[in-house]
Amino acid sequence: MKRAYLALESWFNISFGTHWNPMYHLGTLTFFLFWIILVTGLYLFGFFHGSIDGAYDSVEYITHDQWYAAGVMRSLHRYASDAAIITILLHLFKELASGRYHGARWFSWVSGLPTLWLVVTLGITGYWLVWDELGQYVAIGSARLLDSLPIFSGSMASNFLQGQMTDRFFILIEFLHLLGQPLILFFLLWLHVKRLSNVNINPPRGLAIGCFLALLALSFIKPAVSHAPANLSSMPTVLELDWFYLNAYPLMDYWSEGKTWLLATAITVILMLLPLLPTKKAVPAAVVDLAHCNGCELCFDDCPFEAISVQARTDGRKFEKEVVVDPSLCASCGICMGSCPSSNPFRQSNEELKTGIDMPSLPVDKVRTLTEQAVTSMTGSANVLLIGCEHGFNVKQLDNNETGSVKLICSGMIPPSLIEYALKKGADGVMIVGCRHNDCFYRFGNLWIDKRFSGERKPILRSRADRRRIKVFGGAETDKKLIEKELEVFRHELLAITEQTDLPEQAEIKESPDV
Ligand code: HEM
Ligand code: SF4
Ligand code: SF4
Repeated sequence: MKRAYLALESWFNISFGTHWNPMYHLGTLTFFLFWIILVTGLYLFGFFHGSIDGAYDSVEYITHDQWYAAGVMRSLHRYASDAAIITILLHLFKELASGRYHGARWFSWVSGLPTLWLVVTLGITGYWLVWDELGQYVAIGSARLLDSLPIFSGSMASNFLQGQMTDRFFILIEFLHLLGQPLILFFLLWLHVKRLSNVNINPPRGLAIGCFLALLALSFIKPAVSHAPANLSSMPTVLELDWFYLNAYPLMDYWSEGKTWLLATAITVILMLLPLLPTKKAVPAAVVDLAHCNGCELCFDDCPFEAISVQARTDGRKFEKEVVVDPSLCASCGICMGSCPSSNPFRQSNEELKTGIDMPSLPVDKVRTLTEQAVTSMTGSANVLLIGCEHGFNVKQLDNNETGSVKLICSGMIPPSLIEYALKKGADGVMIVGCRHNDCFYRFGNLWIDKRFSGERKPILRSRADRRRIKVFGGAETDKKLIEKELEVFRHELLAITEQTDLPEQAEIKESPDV
């Protein structure tokens, strides 16, 4: 499943570029689509008549009389809703395929599923409100589904079939669609991202504009229209279904309502229970060592999972604050270790290196030792240290006499001073190979690396580090060829730098007799 997902992601990277690849912005794109649905919905509300007799005619007015404004809004409302189902399903698939549903993420996963169902029911009440033949079909199908539940009286569908659809019931559906369901959705979305930090809900502007223009074009090419008006005394025979929202209804032509419920419940329960599946190994949470913490809060700012909190100092040392890790929220990514200014390999050079916040499974001291071993093992003319992570490409595959590697939990675990250290210890170049750009398994690892290196985020890579000898190139497990190619290019660049550095000395030697 992961390979299928990575192939899809690569294809989008070729078509859209890494910055606008929609696969990297599925959550934010869904939010953007919700905004379109909200704004167009508010406009439509201004012309909609919420009664059995008035609804259809008001939608006809919207569609035909005011086709240039309300009609376009109706189409945008429908197509943005369809697109939202696509982006939500892709978002779900991505999280599932890349294993981002367990551990610290269980809460986002479990809260995402009811959100999906709520969006589906929002679409269903939307189709109901048009009160055309499709609305009638949806009303009777939904009533059959509800009737089959023990909590309902069991007579709703037969009432509808006997023509007893009251205005009061219709207003209830209108209330649900316009207020009840959107409010619950808003609350669920808030819950959904509550345990994540620095959540962005806006896609890149270009992607948002492109998405809007595509929906607008579709609205002009194929405007949304209604079926014939609902008529409870006859059954509609030919319907154009919206398969994104109404796919369960035709199933009931073949299956009982009970079986349809069973299928939906089974899929939901199986997906909900996925986070309980045993994982490869439980990695222990980050641990704070107050003896090396000055309360600078950098780790708190960088933690992607809200696992770190700041509190008043408890150890009587001169600093004001200290940090605390909540192990139940920690994803054990190690990004905080890379943020801590104490994770400096030049400190305590002859003793065990200690830092303010460390990873018991791969402490900073071990990272320093592994780096040193990898650097000193190389004997080539342009030795490159590769630093990779557990979720991107496995850098160990490229080990040879001029390529050494260190595999961390996440590339965000790299303190910038470690790069300087590797260069000082003899590496000609350092190449960081985390996950694909914009797709860090731990959300921000490669992003923070970019910002630390460009000086935008502390701890920064000091200016004395020779930037020409440092390269960041993310890649997934399927990107071996790309990474090898990039490594070769980098090696040639390093050789050229070495030649350039050697040149002035040779020139000086040559020139000196003439002078
Ligand atoms: C209904 C609409 C949904 C919206 C608008 C939405 C939006 C988002 C957003 C904005 C994030 C934060 C991404 C980030 O900053 O890294 C997120 C994370 C997440 N979502 Fe959704 N989501 C939706 C539905 C779902 C569904 C149906 C599932 C799966 C059952 C799901 C699973 C997750 C998971 C596991 C994360 C955590 C990702 C991570 O930690 O990297 N979401 N979602
Ligand atoms: S390892 Fe550190 S940065 Fe990662 S989730 Fe745990 S506390 Fe946060
Ligand atoms: S980054 Fe290090 S020094 Fe700063 S608060 Fe976190 S543990 Fe303490």
